[in-house]
Amino acid sequence: MKRRGWFITATDTGVGKTYFSCALVRALRQGGIKAGVLKPVETGCSSIGAGLVPADALKLKAASRTSAELDLINPYRFSQPISPSIAEKISKRRIDFRKIGACFEKISASHDVVVVEGAGGILSPISKDRTNAQLARYLKLPVVIVVPDRLGAINQALMAVNAARVHGLEVSCVILNSRKGRAKADSRVGLDRAEIEKFGRVRVVAIGK
Ligand SMILES: Nc1ncnc2c1ncn2[C@@H]1O[C@H](COP(=O)(O)OP(=O)(O)O)[C@@H](O)[C@H]1O
Ligand SMILES: [Mg+2]
Repeated sequence: MKRRGWFITATDTGVGKTYFSCALVRALRQGGIKAGVLKPVETGCSSIGAGLVPADALKLKAASRTSAELDLINPYRFSQPISPSIAEKISKRRIDFRKIGACFEKISASHDVVVVEGAGGILSPISKDRTNAQLARYLKLPVVIVVPDRLGAINQALMAVNAARVHGLEVSCVILNSRKGRAKADSRVGLDRAEIEKFGRVRVVAIGK
């Protein structure tokens, strides 16, 4: 069966999901693979006139150079920087997994693979009654877990890997993201990487600036 894509999740918000997703789709494109993107739910969107600007979805669209419409890439957007579950309640706008699934299938039909960026971390709610892990499962996608490289990363990574497996998800790899470009230079990164691989029985890729 054709690889459908990946669901990019994380241990937290603001830890490099968009950064990594953009790097991934650029690398795929350079390798001749046409990657589509999907950011199903984005909160914290700024307003321009009557519209909302989904910054992550726009970055993903630019990196992939896809011609897919923004409303297909990002079907749900909210202004407040809050959990999608709360945004859904406040706005009374229902986040429907079937709609997200339909967007996914439409993008999938015109691309080789689809890179889906979740919202928040793996157990963060992405609708009023379901989590990112449940959405990854619904879309039948393996997950990539982004973990910020800092002291404590081993525990964070292992908890997220465990959470993924409890939900029946395949973990493609853990991305140990080093913002300060220490991925190769700092010996702790290499040591943490080996521990996560050993305890988590998972592939770990260290990336940095
Ligand atoms: N490896 C990295 N090198 C440089 N900047 C990074 C790196 N990873 C993340 N960032 C920056 O950190 C901020 C948060 O990352 P982002 O990808 O938006 O997180 P998330 O999508 O998980 O919320 C962004 O400004 C992003 O550009
Ligand atoms: Mg993001």
